[in-house]
Amino acid sequence: MDSAITTVKPATMPRFNSRLPFSANLPYEGLLAERLPLIHAFSLALHHAALARMDLSVYRKARAWLAGDDCAFHAAECGVYMGNSLVACAQMLRASGLKGRFHALDTFSGLPDLSEADLRLAPENAKYRAQKLFADTSFEAVKARVAEAGVSDSVVFHKGLFADTLPQLSDVQYHFVNIDCDLFEPHIECLDYFYPRMARGGVIFFDDYDSREFPMARAAVDQFMRDKPELLFHLRAGDDGPNRTKTYIVKY
Ligand SMILES: C[S@@+](CC[C@H](N)C(=O)[O-])C[C@H]1O[C@@H](n2cnc3c(N)ncnc32)[C@H](O)[C@@H]1O
Repeated sequence: MDSAITTVKPATMPRFNSRLPFSANLPYEGLLAERLPLIHAFSLALHHAALARMDLSVYRKARAWLAGDDCAFHAAECGVYMGNSLVACAQMLRASGLKGRFHALDTFSGLPDLSEADLRLAPENAKYRAQKLFADTSFEAVKARVAEAGVSDSVVFHKGLFADTLPQLSDVQYHFVNIDCDLFEPHIECLDYFYPRMARGGVIFFDDYDSREFPMARAAVDQFMRDKPELLFHLRAGDDGPNRTKTYIVKY
């Protein structure tokens, strides 16, 4: 995530159309403008999961339920910070009517130390070379934020480094994963874990692929996806600008 907050406004304002889903309505301001591509990608994942659900036989639904998995939609966010995108997506999940669970993974105390790959790829003047970024948050503050938004029942927190928390997740198929963790190795760790566990039609969203501040994100995604069949899709809301273009794949 880059720090610039932007606004996407049309020259003349169309009437709000309450029959269209939230992401089809203008204007988009502040945090919402920055998150529009995420919202589109999340809608796509919800749509694919709902279609797949319709395809499931009663027998398979019953078997999943008996196995203790009564969720139609499993999602994860790798890099939560203050919980802004987590809350936006969890609220959309609730509005969709699908029963789902959102796994929220973070140290909740900022970026880990930079690796050799990060130091090699980071711009010379990057402020995170000298200062720990995203440390101005806490586990308690994000939990309170999630509770205040009324989505606590669908969010499961995993506090710590991904290397420690990923192996503790239950082994289910995922329909949506937002990888927003800036650095090289965390991207690889998350992709190693989630890519083989994605449902067909599941979406992995790469928040930092186009980041100028964190070029190691793109390097990691490109390295991981080199021998994979999925195409990278790029979404841009409005004019070009720092970190405006976001990237996702749809699992085959
Ligand atoms: C850009 S912030 C996430 C922003 C958030 N998605 C939002 O919408 O506001 C990146 C987050 O990734 C987390 N992070 C990066 N590497 C991590 C790792 N290896 N383990 C756990 N958390 C990590 C940081 O703690 C930080 O909170």
